[in-house]
Amino acid sequence: MSAPRIVGIGGTNRQGSSSERMVRAVLEACAARGGEVVLFDGPFLARLPHFNPEDPARTPEESELVEAVRTADALVIGSPGYHGGYSGLVKNAVDLLEDLRGDARCYFDGMPVGLLVTAAGRQACGTTLSALRDVVHAMRGWPTPIGIAVNSVAQRPFAPDGALADPQIAETVDAQAAQIMDFVANARARQASAEVAA
Ligand SMILES: Cc1cc2nc3c(=O)[nH]c(=O)nc-3n(C[C@H](O)[C@H](O)[C@H](O)COP(=O)(O)O)c2cc1C
Repeated sequence: MSAPRIVGIGGTNRQGSSSERMVRAVLEACAARGGEVVLFDGPFLARLPHFNPEDPARTPEESELVEAVRTADALVIGSPGYHGGYSGLVKNAVDLLEDLRGDARCYFDGMPVGLLVTAAGRQACGTTLSALRDVVHAMRGWPTPIGIAVNSVAQRPFAPDGALADPQIAETVDAQAAQIMDFVANARARQASAEVAA
């Protein structure tokens, strides 16, 4: 059986983006558990045109992102808290995934989605994580029970080289990755036994 494919979306186009580093950390933890991972980072998201629901033309970057999510087993989405919500860069990428509406698997149906937020204050950590959960529910996905919100000012989660330096956050990152990978394994086992029964 192929390795579970985990697609990460997130970050800002700021050098050393903390939300991007958090997405990368969860992807690395998924890879350590056997996942095949790909990240669409802030600079990539910044190259996507503003989504236009009436224009079916797609740039190569748009098609790449849509195809990656279409064939994914799980997603990881990370955003900074901007004015109490998630960023326009992430929202624009999510809106593009409207292209999955007519698929046999509509939007994120049946997929686990790990969610991460970094913000300068606790309030935006909470509101932004909650907003992302609502979006995933609207798109039929399953936010993992563990969502991660990091106060990027008070917690200083990263070492100067970009590595995750806070052991508590690292533990939570690993726990979220475990939930994602367990969900995928269980979904595959259910699918396999349904095929045997059919
Ligand atoms: C335009 C903008 C709006 C922001 N709004 C908030 C906010 O409402 N609440 C908050 O706690 N932090 C806010 N911040 C701080 C960011 O959430 C925080 O610095 C975050 O960690 C940046 O993510 P990044 O490192 O991935 O760029 C804002 C930052 C910017 C640039």
